[in-house]
Amino acid sequence: MSNASELFQPLNAGGLALANRIVMAPMTRSRATPDGVPSPLAAEYYSSRASAGLLITEGTQPSYGGQGYARTPSIHTPEQAAAWKLVADAVHARGGRIFLQLMHVGRIAQANNRQVADQPVAPSAVRAPGQVWTDQGGLQNYDQPRALALSEIPAVIAEFAAATRLAIEAGLDGVELHAASGYLPHQFLSTNVNQRTDAYGGDAAGRIRFVVETLQAMVAAAGSPARVGIKISPEMPFNGIEDKDPATYPALVEALNPLGLAYLHVMRASPTTDYLALLRPLWKGVLVAGAGFTAESGAAAIASGVADAIAYGKFYIANPDLKERFEQGLPLSEADGSTFYTPGAKGYTDYARASV
Ligand SMILES: Cc1cc2nc3c(=O)[nH]c(=O)nc-3n(C[C@H](O)[C@H](O)[C@H](O)COP(=O)(O)O)c2cc1C
Repeated sequence: MSNASELFQPLNAGGLALANRIVMAPMTRSRATPDGVPSPLAAEYYSSRASAGLLITEGTQPSYGGQGYARTPSIHTPEQAAAWKLVADAVHARGGRIFLQLMHVGRIAQANNRQVADQPVAPSAVRAPGQVWTDQGGLQNYDQPRALALSEIPAVIAEFAAATRLAIEAGLDGVELHAASGYLPHQFLSTNVNQRTDAYGGDAAGRIRFVVETLQAMVAAAGSPARVGIKISPEMPFNGIEDKDPATYPALVEALNPLGLAYLHVMRASPTTDYLALLRPLWKGVLVAGAGFTAESGAAAIASGVADAIAYGKFYIANPDLKERFEQGLPLSEADGSTFYTPGAKGYTDYARASV
């Protein structure tokens, strides 16, 4: 038996009832069709992990313009929504709860990976360093983005709202805005990719505006704040993003409090600052903490009050019964990194259960 008992307590997340405090972190698995329909295997993949208190899906585009990686799913056509309905139904049939993560890559894009020929957009025309995998041409440099015009921003926010509506109609329990890892919302929050001088840039109040307005639109579309969450990764050194202003995240959290969201999901990614300790006293709602937690350290974080629930990423790839393994004190299987992003069942739906 495990002594990580805090993980197995139920949790009320802004009105959303979760059976336990174990969350499956969102993970891109790159098994969708080229036009963004989730794999038929996705229903089995997610539903076999349904004993988590909450599953969060892989990042999913609200439009083809939001795509940057090969074989990532979308939710903006009836076919895509119908495939997500199969996933939600399968998870619910096994008693689980599932949020769909909405992810717009902004400048983290390459033409080979996109269904549309238009140039990627970002807060400012600042190209991302580094390369990305493409099925057609192997590793390629990121494309040069163009700055979103002020007049174009409402349409981008409307895409998130429309995708939220489709997800809720398809039976998902809610949606999570991916405002972490250097993608479009994080680009707006950042001090290096957001060089705007209009209302969406400048000081912290300007740089948080896109995220706050997007969440307001998502809550309106979902019909309830209990069906909307947000993921952030302050000061994450990934995808060339920089957060040089310490006022950004406190300002964001204060601005989000009145929305009454289901949760704030904080990925620990700063090399210097403990953002859980910094944001916990400011945030009035449920806090989901993630990155590098074990059963023991996750339970300890809940016991100390710094988090209410723990998101587990890599452990969930190879351990569909992670909750039961934690409960029964069973060893964890190792994930095979070579199949994280490859098509098909191998490394996706073929990891065995160990629990009884
Ligand atoms: C294969 C893989 C894909 C990921 N894709 C996403 C994603 O689509 N969206 C996201 O917010 N985080 C993504 N992440 C980050 C995880 O959600 C999580 O924050 C990270 O793995 C740290 O948690 P862990 O130490 O428990 O694995 C991904 C991680 C992995 C390993």
